[in-house]
Amino acid sequence: MLRAIAPIVLSAAAVVAQTNFPPPPQPASNPSTPAKELLGMALFFEEQLSSTNTVACATCHDFAHGGADPRTNAAINAGADQIRGTADDQRGSPGIPLIWSNGELLPHPAHVFKPNVTTRRAPTIVNTGYHKHLMYDGSKTSLEHLAGAPLFNPVEMGRSGRTWSEITSKLSSVRPLALASNLPQRLQTFLGSNNYPALFQQAFGTTQISSTNITQALAAYIRTLNSDQSKWDRVQNGQATLTPQEQLGLTLFNAPANGATSCNTCHGDFDARTLIEGPVAGQMTMTTSGPYGAFFPTRLEFHNVGVRPPSEDVGRGGVTLTAADQGKFRVASLRNVALSAPYFHNGGMATLGDVVEFYNRGGDFHVNQAANLSPRNYTSVEKDAIVALLNTLTDPRLLAGTQPFDRPRLGSQNGNIVTAVGTGQTTSAGELVATAPYAPVLGEPLFRITLSGAAPGSLTWLMWDTAAASTTMPYNLQLALSPAFQVFGMGPAQTNWIVPGVGMQQIPMPLPNQPVLAGAELYAQWLVFDVTSANPILTSNGLRLELQ
Ligand code: HEC
Ligand code: HEC
Repeated sequence: MLRAIAPIVLSAAAVVAQTNFPPPPQPASNPSTPAKELLGMALFFEEQLSSTNTVACATCHDFAHGGADPRTNAAINAGADQIRGTADDQRGSPGIPLIWSNGELLPHPAHVFKPNVTTRRAPTIVNTGYHKHLMYDGSKTSLEHLAGAPLFNPVEMGRSGRTWSEITSKLSSVRPLALASNLPQRLQTFLGSNNYPALFQQAFGTTQISSTNITQALAAYIRTLNSDQSKWDRVQNGQATLTPQEQLGLTLFNAPANGATSCNTCHGDFDARTLIEGPVAGQMTMTTSGPYGAFFPTRLEFHNVGVRPPSEDVGRGGVTLTAADQGKFRVASLRNVALSAPYFHNGGMATLGDVVEFYNRGGDFHVNQAANLSPRNYTSVEKDAIVALLNTLTDPRLLAGTQPFDRPRLGSQNGNIVTAVGTGQTTSAGELVATAPYAPVLGEPLFRITLSGAAPGSLTWLMWDTAAASTTMPYNLQLALSPAFQVFGMGPAQTNWIVPGVGMQQIPMPLPNQPVLAGAELYAQWLVFDVTSANPILTSNGLRLELQ
């Protein structure tokens, strides 16, 4: 019996392993090798690459969310008017707060010590090996060109004044992926008990860690993140068929509607391989007929579909400096789009239904908008059919976490990095917010606990405990009041000219380098005495820290 089913299982496995896309082109200066790709994988998930040990590339480029960032809906930038909750808000990705070169935090006018948020939504990292123009505005021309930039971006991973030598010397001394857990087998095998110099030796034949090697390894890994096993691909291979609803969606996608340009005019033969630009000579071959015909248009597609006025984000216009390009963004790949909500460069549309509705009404802003994006008059059956079609582009390996999308759990996902407990109370100056922007890694010289939202001059105390409250306590207390409970007076809340009406604290607490403390769990919370409030005793949110 078992014998009889074995061949079926095997052939099913063979189907899944089928690769529908040719591998992306590799620059001659950076040929891929398995060791280089695995090193790049380790670096992609390495939170220790950020100045705070809290952010990895994978924090904002999450495979389970189509290679984009699930936190985008809740991470709001106030936009051009600097007021949150208005239509020009941009949804992006939280990185790190602004940090001076000496490690001190610079308060931000809108969110004080909370992480900054990128001004555009993180696009998917999946299939980016095929792009020649990366980013929404096409401003980066290769992965090698791009991969190092987030490490120095003050919003994403790097404090002000960061240098490559600081990054390379840090990597030389840390334990690879010390904050992550649940490492995939292939990564675990590669890491073994090696340090980074030994891993660079395997990948590059030298223990010397350099900026070039870091970016090359990251780029080589990203070139493996190719998604080509969706239902749509199986349909192309005759292994599945579209349902009547999906078929209707396909017909609509490929046809003009009420005089408006068809979706496939910009997104390509629906397949979205339109984003895969013309092959680098000799490195990718694609036929122009057959199921993948015409998927590699050689021209670059940037369009303004009318998401927001160009004055808010000039998009491509910022790169080409021509008026005609104001407000144009790169046509998005629709692969795995069902996983990567919210949509558009500003994260402004929450669901695929909202996107189809957006096109149906002809877009929202018409300054410099592409021609023929007039209202489409789709019926609700037709809108649902288009969404059903888009849903066929999901590659199951992203959600399942199977190769090449296997991934460890990040420290920020498993609680290894500071997490908030409860919510702070409100004063005349705002909400009492406690943060600890640096991961609590033993030996961290810059570790600090902050407070914001106090009335300026209020007296503050920092409370510590080894356990959290298990029941609701008076004064919003989040600590257990165990025998280990302690309180330290921290003096009056300070103001800073950047946010003059808000009292804040920033208490440096270098963490001792004593391995015996690893794993110790601590809770902190601020107590504030606010004479301007009817109830003068107020508390911030609590913080849970597990020393690493
Ligand atoms: C804090 C969030 C954040 C982190 C961390 C981050 N990125 Fe990004 N990434 C973004 C955003 C936002 C964009 C788009 C920016 C734009 O177009 O203006 C982007 C764009 C990209 C792109 C271009 C994708 C495309 O479709 O063109 C690549 C590739 C990329 N990032 C790789 C990385 C790598 C490698 C790292 C780690 C070294 C990293 N990112 C870290 C947010 C992040
Ligand atoms: C004129 C060219 C053009 C046409 C026609 C067009 N699109 Fe788009 N599409 C774009 C561009 C450009 C973007 C990226 C816009 C941005 O991020 O601001 C985009 C983004 C999207 C997104 C969001 C993807 C993401 O990850 O953010 C979806 C979904 C989408 N389009 C579906 C459609 C559908 C369905 C149609 C037909 C009803 C269509 N598009 C017609 C150019 C076009």
